[in-house]
Amino acid sequence: MCGIIGITSTKPVTQRIVDGLKRLEYRGYDSAGVATLESGHINTRRSAGKIANLQSVVDAHPLHGHIGIGHIRWATHGAPTENNAHPISNGKLSIVHNGIIENFAQLREQLTAKGHVFHSQTDTESIVHLITDHLDHGSSPKEALHKALNQLEGAFAIGVLFEGHDLLLGARRGSPLVIGVGEEEMFLGSDALGLAPYTDRLIYLEEGDWVILKSNSYQIYDHNAAPITRPIVHIPTDNFQIAKDGFAHFMLKEIHEQPSVIGQSLSNVLDPCSRLPSFEGLNFPQVNAFDTINIVACGTSHYAAMVAKYWLEGLAHLRVNVDMASEFRYRKPTLISNDICLFISQSGETADTLAALKHAKAHGQFCIALVNVATSSMAREADAVILTDAGVEVGVASTKAFTCQLIVLATLSLALSLQTKASSPEQVTVHVEALTHVPTLMGQLLTQTETYSQIARKWLMGAKDILYIGRGTLFPMALEGALKLKELSYIHAEGFPAGELKHGPIALIDQDLPVIVLAPHDHLFDKTLSNAFEVLARGARVILLTDTIGAKKITQINDHIIVITLIETTDLTAPLLYALPLQLLAYYTALHKGTDVDQPRNLAKSVTVE
Ligand code: F6R
Repeated sequence: MCGIIGITSTKPVTQRIVDGLKRLEYRGYDSAGVATLESGHINTRRSAGKIANLQSVVDAHPLHGHIGIGHIRWATHGAPTENNAHPISNGKLSIVHNGIIENFAQLREQLTAKGHVFHSQTDTESIVHLITDHLDHGSSPKEALHKALNQLEGAFAIGVLFEGHDLLLGARRGSPLVIGVGEEEMFLGSDALGLAPYTDRLIYLEEGDWVILKSNSYQIYDHNAAPITRPIVHIPTDNFQIAKDGFAHFMLKEIHEQPSVIGQSLSNVLDPCSRLPSFEGLNFPQVNAFDTINIVACGTSHYAAMVAKYWLEGLAHLRVNVDMASEFRYRKPTLISNDICLFISQSGETADTLAALKHAKAHGQFCIALVNVATSSMAREADAVILTDAGVEVGVASTKAFTCQLIVLATLSLALSLQTKASSPEQVTVHVEALTHVPTLMGQLLTQTETYSQIARKWLMGAKDILYIGRGTLFPMALEGALKLKELSYIHAEGFPAGELKHGPIALIDQDLPVIVLAPHDHLFDKTLSNAFEVLARGARVILLTDTIGAKKITQINDHIIVITLIETTDLTAPLLYALPLQLLAYYTALHKGTDVDQPRNLAKSVTVE
């Protein structure tokens, strides 16, 4: 969360910093700011709200410096006001910060006692005064930064400018920070995406590293202040193209990209000759070498993990635990040495999932990261990496990355079922064949967007609460449908296993409550249908998603039920294909309500704080 850009150059930097921040807006969009050093003095421009507001401020009051830092904020400490926006400057230095300083209250008290006056509610300001205190006691910028780093607790990445010094300092602990190497200019950034237009030569700082950047040089130090070198990696910048390509929103574009990215993600994990799942080169331990797979993730990625549990148990007969990363790490789970932990994350940066990965690694687990960003922290920490091939996902609500996770997890389950001999190659071939049709079937579903727009307008946008129910793999999909709807439209929504309704949630049912029922015609269809009738009998309005065989079995048609007829599915293809109607219902409900689809309130795409 929060994005950082810094540039030291021989040319003006302000507009390039603001442009870089626009690319980082997925990390937060509560407020933004930029500061540059001009003739040794730091000038700062900040604004509350989205980056467009900062652009207007900078247009009206330009900054001309050749060294600068910029920040896009997702508020943790202090409201998203201009006064709490970064960079936070005090006449001696200016700081941008991503992360949380856990001992900020203690530092604030100590520094206030020494006469420092705080002007914001941020934890970041404690770093400003801490470094200033060291400068006041005769330290150079380099010494002051190093001393301050030793006193800070928490996870953070920072960029710092000093009055009267033509340099830019950066430091990371817990939050990622990269250096970009340019021609007579150097860059600092939260990730490769922000720096992509400027350079493809990147250096990933390691835990505890800090750096001094000048326009034509850099020096990295480790946590003991010993000079150190880190490798330069070349990252092709065409991996980071960001454009809406004529769609109204990134989310809609990303929904429509699913047929192609699913096809690509699937072909990446199939052997081109045998067409059987192939995860070779992964160093994945043979199944008999481990007892249990622990899958850990957050949010939508956690729902992908829940779906995978059904597949890994059902197809490969493996023992599977699924955890939310924020709980896993502090729950002290019993981890048997040599078990496998699979961490699922679109960004590869989610703080809880990354911390869980480090925890598991420290406890002897073989850690696999299933991520969409090859250069992410999780990809670099894990013992093995499986990449989804969704491309950059800009919309805050995950869509294509989720379905790419599902297709890879389906294929992984098939690969492991071959290893455990729970399935024969012939059986796996049948499943693979069904999966290869998914991109075409998704394409067909995407021709019916108008249906979802109409249902969203007539049945959903006016609702105060909405329930989603399903059984088997469609239970996590019910959770996912509810999450997508609430985060985009701000309507309260909940997902339940259909069989659980009568144990409490059914008390919520009245004529104002739409219930979305996910009911492919599988071995659980009749039971799910009974649950749909139970809520209909209590006055609810039901939107039932099924297939042609299921639809034929629904005899009670009245104006309280809409049946959406999808394509027939299998146990593996159902979650993939039901994902799209759920995404479209959420998208159109938000669109009709007029909420900000790509940047819903209070959220950020990459959640790099606990
Ligand atoms: C919801 C959504 C979030 C993310 C979650 C984890 O639409 O996108 O719930 O799934 O923040 O993010 P990653 O997958 O990047 O670890």
